[in-house]
Amino acid sequence: MNKTIGLIDSGIGGFSVLKRLQEHFPALNFIYYGDSKNMPYGEKERDEIIALVNKDIRFVENKGVDLIVLACNTASSLIDELNSTVPLLSIIEAGCRAVLRTDPDGPVGLIATRATVGSRAYEKRIKEYSDDIEFISYGTPTLAKTINNQLEEIELLKTNIHQAIAPILKQYPVKNLLLGCTHYPIVSAQIRRLYPEINLIDPALEMIEILDKTLGQTPSGNDGFTDIYINGNKSQLEQSRYLLGELNIDYRTLNLENE
Ligand code: DGL
Repeated sequence: MNKTIGLIDSGIGGFSVLKRLQEHFPALNFIYYGDSKNMPYGEKERDEIIALVNKDIRFVENKGVDLIVLACNTASSLIDELNSTVPLLSIIEAGCRAVLRTDPDGPVGLIATRATVGSRAYEKRIKEYSDDIEFISYGTPTLAKTINNQLEEIELLKTNIHQAIAPILKQYPVKNLLLGCTHYPIVSAQIRRLYPEINLIDPALEMIEILDKTLGQTPSGNDGFTDIYINGNKSQLEQSRYLLGELNIDYRTLNLENE
């Protein structure tokens, strides 16, 4: 029987990961849980984030998933503190492998939530692979929330993107920028338009490899299904529906949770 993969994020950011995985593994079933009600996680205290992510994990565990992709960097930065009965795959691990594959010449810019940057999880993990890679990071307080709830506000989005990237470039003119929050690949076209000289690194591609290795073999067939649960209000559900359409993500059900 096809395996069922849980994906969790604070909101709709993890759709950027779901899209890649769904395209590559059409035989798998996906259960996605986005906690839009409590986002942004990146502005919360560590203990609160741990409690929220553990709840997210319980939700998908109760749907019978075989493993969980933490499609949220902020959650992944606390992976050692989380409780799960099934294996957890970290998007930060994927991000580090994506950087190594890029083999960057010079420091890599890292834009992420303030919690992810504050945890130094990227720096710690990459050190286990290489002493030569340095991150210039900046924790942006508003970009993920704007993407989650006001995606169509183009001017606000542009301002937020500038606020996230300009402080990094002020320190060093990086050639590579790691999108260290799953909400950011959703606006990669806008980022590219504003900073065409910078190569953007999206960890989601590397998550395909990690999942492939974890499963042992690529499942065959294309009869997988995707069920999506958004914890939030009606407008956040509609925002999710809009983005699912934009990203061309197939789903069987889209459900509003409201705890
Ligand atoms: N998408 C999440 C991440 O990758 C976080 C957004 C937030 O809730 O702050 O870190």
